[in-house]
Amino acid sequence: TKVSETYRPIYHFTPSKGWMNDPNGLIFIDGEYHLFYQYYPDSTVWGPMHWGHAVSKDLVNWEDLSIALYPDSLGYIFSGSAVFDAENSSGLGTAENPPVVAIYTYHDMAGEKSGAKDYQKQAIAYSLDKGRTWTKYEGNPVLPNQGIKDFRDPKVSQITEADGNKRWIMTLAVLDRIQFFGSSDLKDWTLLSEFGQGIGAHGGVWECPDLLPFTTPDGKQKWVLLVSLNPGGPQNGSATQYFIGDFQNGTFTPDDTMIRWLDYGPDNYAGVTWANLPKEQNRTLFIGWMSNWLYAQRLPTKTWRSAMTIPRELSLFDVDGTLLVKSSPAEELLALRLQAISLSGKESVLPSEAVEILAEVDNEDHFQLKFSNELGEELLISKEMNLVTIDRRQAGKADFHPDFSAAHAAPMSWKAKNLRIFLDASSIELFVNEGELVLTSLLFPSTPWKKVEIGYGLDEVQLYPLKKP
Ligand code: FRU
Repeated sequence: TKVSETYRPIYHFTPSKGWMNDPNGLIFIDGEYHLFYQYYPDSTVWGPMHWGHAVSKDLVNWEDLSIALYPDSLGYIFSGSAVFDAENSSGLGTAENPPVVAIYTYHDMAGEKSGAKDYQKQAIAYSLDKGRTWTKYEGNPVLPNQGIKDFRDPKVSQITEADGNKRWIMTLAVLDRIQFFGSSDLKDWTLLSEFGQGIGAHGGVWECPDLLPFTTPDGKQKWVLLVSLNPGGPQNGSATQYFIGDFQNGTFTPDDTMIRWLDYGPDNYAGVTWANLPKEQNRTLFIGWMSNWLYAQRLPTKTWRSAMTIPRELSLFDVDGTLLVKSSPAEELLALRLQAISLSGKESVLPSEAVEILAEVDNEDHFQLKFSNELGEELLISKEMNLVTIDRRQAGKADFHPDFSAAHAAPMSWKAKNLRIFLDASSIELFVNEGELVLTSLLFPSTPWKKVEIGYGLDEVQLYPLKKP
């Protein structure tokens, strides 16, 4: 590979060039998964935000399309979502050809510089060709700012209320809390309620929320509210917390005051879920930005910056009466597997930079797995008592930011039964018990990982080389 392509993931989505952050507007339409993303094509650091656009039929082969939304006189195009307006409630399409509607934040840089407080507002754009091309609504903004600077990242979904009425609900991040707005036409929005004061983690600003219905293992309806937080995560910097509770009459009521984290690694941020998936599949599909604002803009890649996580399927599980969200690798990833290799000896050679490793845990209190390269750099995965750790302190380049070199531990009070690891050219994603505990971590080894050593506490280790989609 060309030096300029060093660290380019083999099976994770990256933009061909330029800067990328949050996934936006995730929507499934007519057999295609759309992935829009915060994008600045002209540099490898954050700048005037566009919505980049990629599509996939299978969540592993991504085709990058042309830019969907460009910044304009109202501002940069910040994060947001997309919905299929099947009944043409917005009037932006027709009954025969209903529109896909994107709801996003305008960030007015000039307003910010002049000291104004109302420089973030919500706007819409629509597509009449199944998400290929977009027109901004001429009546923008649809939700002006009420004087709180941080007012962004609308996630809209259609919710059927107890009385059988459907309405659009916008979940919006407002400084250090969430506001819910309601609408019948996606244009006119009314504040319904607020959530977040005195509950949850507040070490930073709340961003990129998502509100999701789930069925619990014992068949009850519950709602999960994802809220990204920057900084203030369980590691240093950005991370995603979530709340479990009920959503009724436009109000979210949490079951408890526990702080829960979707991923204990340092590098999964601003993740949200796909809209408009076929109902009968009953899946909640998630993707996150595989980075952290702490050092994202200094990562050692040359022509592009950032990748998305692998797509994950979210569900609820129960640990001794406490509900938690499980993030499992999407089953579509199985299509990447090449011929399995059973690792018998203590030490094995890695056939490629892109591998998946499965292992059974036979000592739930202590286990260890180690990757290394010819330069003696090492990546350690271990469990000691109730802490699962990814230690990247010796795992290669780290001089680009003082906080990158670290060991990241996650508490696990229940039994660890198996591991599933996805390794790519510059990342590792560790799923314990198929996603009951997850750690996502970026890595920049000076030369690719060459060896894997199965330490103690693990058994029946299988390796699948993964193909380039
Ligand atoms: C989260 C975020 C969002 C914002 C976007 C700007 O990473 O800060 O809150 O809309 O990135 O690019």
